[in-house]
Amino acid sequence: MEQRKNVVIGVTGGIAAYKALDIVSKLKKASVNVHVIMTQSAQKFVQPLSFQSLSQNYVVADMFDEPKTWEIEHISLAQKADLFVIVPATANIIGKIANGIADDMLTTTVMATKAPVLIAPAMNTNMYQNPIVQENIRKLEQMGYRFIEPDTGQLACGDVGVGKLPPPEKIVEEILQQLDRKLDLKDKKIIVTAGPTREPIDPVRYITNHSSGKMGYAIAEKAAYRGAEVLLISGPTTLPSPYGVQRIDVNTTMEMYEAVMEKAKWANIIIKAAAVADFRPAVVAENKIKKADADLIIPLTRNPDILKELGNRKAPNTILIGFAAETQDLIENAKKKIQNKNLDFIVANDLTKEGAGFQSDTNIVTIIDKKGHIEHLSKMSKGELAEVILDKAKQLSMEGVE
Ligand code: CTP
Repeated sequence: MEQRKNVVIGVTGGIAAYKALDIVSKLKKASVNVHVIMTQSAQKFVQPLSFQSLSQNYVVADMFDEPKTWEIEHISLAQKADLFVIVPATANIIGKIANGIADDMLTTTVMATKAPVLIAPAMNTNMYQNPIVQENIRKLEQMGYRFIEPDTGQLACGDVGVGKLPPPEKIVEEILQQLDRKLDLKDKKIIVTAGPTREPIDPVRYITNHSSGKMGYAIAEKAAYRGAEVLLISGPTTLPSPYGVQRIDVNTTMEMYEAVMEKAKWANIIIKAAAVADFRPAVVAENKIKKADADLIIPLTRNPDILKELGNRKAPNTILIGFAAETQDLIENAKKKIQNKNLDFIVANDLTKEGAGFQSDTNIVTIIDKKGHIEHLSKMSKGELAEVILDKAKQLSMEGVE
């Protein structure tokens, strides 16, 4: 019989604490072994006995409790956990973990665990949006802690805004998914390019585009999460590096070209999500260009096409994936790019559609492969699309091996 997974649930003191009861009950029904640790303030909202009855395990509520007959101590729980979940997570617990404070049973156990930690914040909107809380979340994310984003809606305090705990089913689904996490890209080495490039005109000005880098960063993050070794070659963005990803920062297309060419042989999958500038000023003025009465004309010269060069040099077992941003004749143009650049498939973006393209968190794309298969995908988050792209890349690289 398959061994049951152990999930440790840390409950902290928010009004949403009662929802954790439902989560524990649903996990038990899914045959997960659940252990609950409650903070002092959580116990003001819900009785430990309720969690104990549902989890059928002793609830750890006090650091200085006598050890019970149940096999519980904070170190043993930390070791036993296949996954650690903090739900609901207050601003206080997030702040403590982010700053290495371990002064009760929950914080000491989190600090001692090597299991993945999933945090589901729930709090008042202003608290959630407070820059200190956001900074702590970012810091933890960069260290590999994962967050379930709170929903927007009417909060217990009467305010309407972000900060609501998502429904228990959604959290349970996320937990079960994490438990089942497959490192299916473990043997893959993936280069992802992302973001815009910047082509200097003079020391203070440059030409660029609206790319945010979100699509490429989402791919890099998901690939690393699925076990791939990931090198992210990024133009200037404001995004934090995804956990477990090696990142090289570049500014210009020429710099990106050099970085990509240097590493290209190492990779078995290359995904070119960057919005590369096709032209650069032919000469970069040494000093700031002064305004004059006449119009200013800046001659531009062609940048190398990085993807095309990769296509020329492509080894047979390397999977090469391009993006196409179009405002007209999407399929025709994308097909031409597959041919010209020797791609395995292309992810074509119709920039005229709402919810597609650069700054958005979602995308609407059509995937076309070199055999001519066309797949129209509906609007989805860039994270979801990243998974679709990686699934397809994996499938093609498996076909290549067979
Ligand atoms: N690309 C690249 N190097 C360039 C230009 C584009 O590597 N100098 C890559 C992009 O990263 C993307 C793909 O080529 O994966 C398509 O980019 P896009 O701008 O849509 O197409 P272009 O090939 O530049 O063609 P056009 O501008 O004529 O549409």
